[in-house]
Amino acid sequence: MNTKTHVWFLIILISFVVNALYVESASKTLDSYLLSCGSSNGGSDSDGRKWESDSKYLGSSDNSISAKAKFQDPSLPSAIPYMSARILTSESTYTLSVSTKKRHWVRLHFYPSSYSSLNATDAYFDVTAGETTLLNNFSAPITAEALTQSYIVREFSVGPFSSDALKITFTPSAKHNGSYAFVNGIEIISMPELFPEPATLVGFSDQTVDVASSTLQTMFRLNVGGQYIPPNNDSDLSRTWYDDSPYVYGAAFGVTTETNTTVKIDFPEEFPKYVAPVDVYSTARSMGPDSKLNQNFNLTWVFPVDGNFMYVVRLHFCELEQTLINQRVFDIFINNQTAQEAADVIAWSGAKEVPVYKDFAIFVSNTSGSAQELWLALHPSVAEKPEVYDAILNGLEIFKLNDTSGNLAAPNPVPSPMLLEAESEEKTSFAEPSKSKKTAHIIGGAAGGAAAVGLVAAICIVVYNRKKRVYGNESNGTSGWLPLYGNSLTSHNNSKSTISGKSSHTSSHLSTLAAGLCRHFALGEIKQGTKNFDESNVIGVGGFGKVYKGVVDGGTKVAIKRANPSSEQGVHEFRTEIEMLSKLRHRHLVSLIGFCEENDEMILVYDYMSHGTVREHLYKCKTHLSWKQRLEICIGAARGLHYLHTGAKYTIIHRDVKTTNILVDENWVAKVSDFGLSKTGPALNQTHVSTVVKGSFGYLDPEYFRRQQLTDKSDVYSFGVVLFEVLCARPALNPSLPKEQVSLADWALHCQRKGILEDIIDPTLKGKINPEVLKKFSETAEKCLSDHGTERPSMGDVLWNLEFCLQLQENPSSSLVKDDVGIAKDSEIDAREANMAAHRKLEPWK
Ligand SMILES: *[C@@H]1O[C@H](CO)[C@@H](O)[C@H](O)[C@H]1NC(C)=O
Ligand SMILES: *[C@@H]1O[C@H](CO)[C@@H](O)[C@H](O)[C@H]1NC(C)=O
Ligand SMILES: *[C@@H]1O[C@H](CO)[C@@H](O)[C@H](O)[C@H]1NC(C)=O
Ligand SMILES: *[C@@H]1O[C@H](CO)[C@@H](O)[C@H](O)[C@H]1NC(C)=O
Ligand SMILES: *[C@@H]1O[C@H](CO)[C@@H](O)[C@H](O)[C@H]1NC(C)=O
Ligand SMILES: *[C@@H]1O[C@H](CO)[C@@H](O)[C@H](O)[C@H]1NC(C)=O
Ligand SMILES: *[C@@H]1O[C@H](CO)[C@@H](O)[C@H](O)[C@H]1NC(C)=O
Ligand SMILES: *[C@@H]1O[C@H](CO)[C@@H](O)[C@H](O)[C@H]1NC(C)=O
Ligand SMILES: *[C@@H]1O[C@H](CO)[C@@H](O)[C@H](O)[C@H]1NC(C)=O
Repeated sequence: MNTKTHVWFLIILISFVVNALYVESASKTLDSYLLSCGSSNGGSDSDGRKWESDSKYLGSSDNSISAKAKFQDPSLPSAIPYMSARILTSESTYTLSVSTKKRHWVRLHFYPSSYSSLNATDAYFDVTAGETTLLNNFSAPITAEALTQSYIVREFSVGPFSSDALKITFTPSAKHNGSYAFVNGIEIISMPELFPEPATLVGFSDQTVDVASSTLQTMFRLNVGGQYIPPNNDSDLSRTWYDDSPYVYGAAFGVTTETNTTVKIDFPEEFPKYVAPVDVYSTARSMGPDSKLNQNFNLTWVFPVDGNFMYVVRLHFCELEQTLINQRVFDIFINNQTAQEAADVIAWSGAKEVPVYKDFAIFVSNTSGSAQELWLALHPSVAEKPEVYDAILNGLEIFKLNDTSGNLAAPNPVPSPMLLEAESEEKTSFAEPSKSKKTAHIIGGAAGGAAAVGLVAAICIVVYNRKKRVYGNESNGTSGWLPLYGNSLTSHNNSKSTISGKSSHTSSHLSTLAAGLCRHFALGEIKQGTKNFDESNVIGVGGFGKVYKGVVDGGTKVAIKRANPSSEQGVHEFRTEIEMLSKLRHRHLVSLIGFCEENDEMILVYDYMSHGTVREHLYKCKTHLSWKQRLEICIGAARGLHYLHTGAKYTIIHRDVKTTNILVDENWVAKVSDFGLSKTGPALNQTHVSTVVKGSFGYLDPEYFRRQQLTDKSDVYSFGVVLFEVLCARPALNPSLPKEQVSLADWALHCQRKGILEDIIDPTLKGKINPEVLKKFSETAEKCLSDHGTERPSMGDVLWNLEFCLQLQENPSSSLVKDDVGIAKDSEIDAREANMAAHRKLEPWK
């Protein structure tokens, strides 16, 4: 043999070996199935995963029909597996040969639509996997509707079992006439045992729960402080990880941190890589840099869950900043019980950038009435005297465990009665999800108190929805401020045609982003909620049209702004307001709940602010506001504006700051409203936005007026007028006064400079304001009214000074160091905002 033959021989040998290896690895994945039910050939989904037809796994005696959906909802991530369905008219079983000694994911995909001539509302069915009931009396359309979601994904993790194959059985409910079962996709994926160790039972430190013997349902899986991770980017278990910000409770968002791309997360040898992908560990949410502030609040997440089940909560940690033991130590509370005292990530993991996780089990009972919730709260462990008072979390998973009778199913969620009524009025069927309602998505504000059923629904969406976020160019970790979620953000790339087709259909003016973030109300719902726009419900009239109070979802009070159909300007402002507000959520901004655009009507639906505008409490004197209340209102409004200027991706300039655009809710919390004139601010390389002058006389920045150049300092000017208005309780313009007094800005400045401001303040406040506070307050307002924008303070500085005023007013005797104040100590703290203020180098403009 010459060398040539040798080489050939070698090549053949190698290819044999490679082939053998390949076959070996292929047989390992034989344990996994992706079934596109009802399709004849299968196909690939938008993530490039290959799905096969389900027919050969069904018993031959099973009565089944394969059917195609008539309509592709734009929110579907891809046609495979949702556009085809397997209809099962009697009990039918999929038999999948898998290694029964292993644990498997079972993911069920449902897209309620009309298939053949069947009515989707008739489909009630049970699903079991082996002995465990996964779903019972399940109605996909009811669930989808209650979640305002077009499709549903349920993920279960089935443990090892004794039979020779995994049997998934669908049984149409006998209790409903004409019932049938259907399914669009089934995924069976072999997985390692994620819970080799039992979980600690919260509240019973000596007891544990053995998770490995149970079937689990995934309720939540979050990349805390990070972004959406699609199945393809998971560590081999094709899990989806979502952003946690929609679940953060209240305004205390903490801050998100991210590792340097150059830093490697170091998985210890005994720590399996599949536990969570690197992306989960390399981002985190912590409380913020201000130790003092952190002692006053809990970093809290709230999750809606089903009652009467045991849950296991897995917390993923990886220290990204601290390096030593006892540097960052915190307590972990689950449902208001101590789950772990003195958690110290470095003590657990041994080093920075090394991951570790902890499992806790908790039973959630079904206390009557209210929705069942699971609360997770972190608080610095003050007793341990750590170096920093802070807490950290990188990832979070919540699983539901089967109960003792082998059941995981909970009742169908309940759609709001109003939604149902509106629907029956319209006679829309589930068969035509193109009707506005089906793509309506409710966005829960960051504020915790939203009582609407819709919020819970919106929260659920995130879990059950294979959402994709449009990251654009804001995909860095710090964009966590924007609690964007909802599935119309979906799939810009994979169903572009349907999305644009859809958006022109439902709302010609709106970007898909805004339309997706906002709930789309049917006109019927609005008419019902306002008694057909009854005049007795009018609570205000503006340039835009009338504002009505109303009720939606069977009890949620809202303010409904109905545009004057004649005004062309209205269309533009309508659009601006939706575009702006739908993306902004803040405790001190009025929340837009949704909109309605039907029959030439343009209607915006907001949170109802029961105490109306600030102005009506100043000199129309509905109620007499105390000085402290006024300060708190100013602080709230300043926070809202500061957030607009700095919290968002772009600087947003309100352009119409005035006392009628600052509203107060039932707890006297001030919220900035009316974004019809808002502009996004200058891009980085510009210092201003050129624009036609708009705004309200009396509040208008003279520099803006002169130069027609808008900056965030124009809002600061207007806010200065607001401060004087609050102090003096008179309108910004009062033409009935002597000429020099007509404009409040001019008159107050004049008096301030002459040192006679006290003569013009609200008589009811005389003697009630600490002189130091009055000095600080009026200096702040004066500075806001500086002629040149560059001389005016930023909104953050205004906020800081107002907080100082409040502190001083409440604590006049204490000789406070300036650095120690700035934070209203007992009012609910907007930690993120305050942290921002505390962190900023203060410009002592005197
Ligand atoms: C489906 O059934 C519901 C309730 O039974 C009924 O209101 C609706 O009209 C039906 N839709 C169609 C298309 O038959
Ligand atoms: C179900 O159908 C049967 C026979 O078609 C009928 O007798 C029965 O009344 C129906 N039940 C209901 C609840 O409609
Ligand atoms: C997923 O992984 C791919 C390739 O590593 C990367 O390009 C993509 O940005 C990742 N997607 C997300 C959302 O992280
Ligand atoms: C990022 O990593 C590099 C190299 O490890 C280091 O020099 C730099 O300080 C890091 N930056 C931050 C913000 O931690
Ligand atoms: C935990 O406490 C908060 C208030 O302290 C309460 O609103 C919430 O309902 C409690 N959560 C649970 C699950 O008990
Ligand atoms: C944090 O949560 C725990 C458990 O619910 C509660 O006992 C504690 O008072 C909370 N701390 C603060 C500062 O809210
Ligand atoms: C709570 O569970 C019990 C038993 O499982 C059930 O009888 C009861 O109706 C449930 N209560 C609520 C409010 O769901
Ligand atoms: C779940 O079911 C299995 C048997 O099917 C049982 O051993 C286990 O205890 C159940 N889990 C719980 C939390 O009750
Ligand atoms: C099945 O679910 C429907 C809708 O949630 C409910 O009205 C019905 O009572 C349930 N039936 C049973 C037998 O639980």
